[in-house]
Amino acid sequence: MKHFTGVADVTDLPELVKLARELKAHPQAHQALGQNKTLVMLFFNPSLRTRLSSEKAALNLGMQVISMNADQGWNLEFADGAIMNANTAEHVKEAAAVISQYADIIGLRSFPGLKDRELDYQDQVMQAFCRYAQVPVVSLESATRHPLQSLADVITIEEHKRKPRPKVVLSWAPHPRALPQAVPNSFVEWMRQADVDLVITHPEGYELAPEFVGDTPVVYNQAEALSGADFVYVKNWSSYQNYGQILTQDPAWTMTEAKMALTDQGKFMHCLPVRRNVVVADEVLDGPRSLVIAQANNRTFAAQAVLHQLLSQKHG
Ligand code: CP
Repeated sequence: MKHFTGVADVTDLPELVKLARELKAHPQAHQALGQNKTLVMLFFNPSLRTRLSSEKAALNLGMQVISMNADQGWNLEFADGAIMNANTAEHVKEAAAVISQYADIIGLRSFPGLKDRELDYQDQVMQAFCRYAQVPVVSLESATRHPLQSLADVITIEEHKRKPRPKVVLSWAPHPRALPQAVPNSFVEWMRQADVDLVITHPEGYELAPEFVGDTPVVYNQAEALSGADFVYVKNWSSYQNYGQILTQDPAWTMTEAKMALTDQGKFMHCLPVRRNVVVADEVLDGPRSLVIAQANNRTFAAQAVLHQLLSQKHG
């Protein structure tokens, strides 16, 4: 694995999940692996779970961690051949190469602008760092994907499944703000590699990018989609077609206990943070079906498994 930006960078997903579960059982068993190694994390956007779980994962492996908020006052240039006589003060070519002098692995979080679909789907920040960094880059969420979240979700489903090939439903939910498609894109991308039957349900107009959906069934009737589900992954996203727009905030799509009753004793999943009683009713989130804290816990071991693989490679 050169960089970790999506499921395509994983050579053996079951092996990675197995490693994560072994690390969960013995979090500090590999402290020597990260000795004298440094993880530098850059956050162009805020984070609670990703930041703390990745730091915890690195510390569990004996690494040092340096984190930098890069969201204010650091205007990077990304264009090749740019004449930098305006607002950008440093080119990503130098920035990525310089950070590589201090880091053995770079973690990077950046969100899409949700204004220009073509630009966002080029994943400019992540791609530029992967191109110009001299060390491996780990996505802590990009404009189009959130692979560490998805790996944690795969681990959580593996831990809680009651049948070899569970039915997993990704359900859109309302939200007052326009949110990226990174989490649902990524969830679909990873579920398509996992041993599950995936169904996507959302109002018309919220179709995800075809390259992520592939041949996954899309059912516009939420109740029909939920029938017999073992896991229900709820998430809001803004429209891909009408890029970045909120088309509806219909509360009929909020996940409730009555809807969860349509499932086969289904478990509720969400990446967090979540808007209570907009995305999901308190009764579900606070009830025995909810796996949200288990998912958040698994963020540490997802990150630790990826760092472990990258460090092991570096050691030859
Ligand atoms: N789920 C997730 O990525 O949370 P943060 O935005 O807090 O990192």
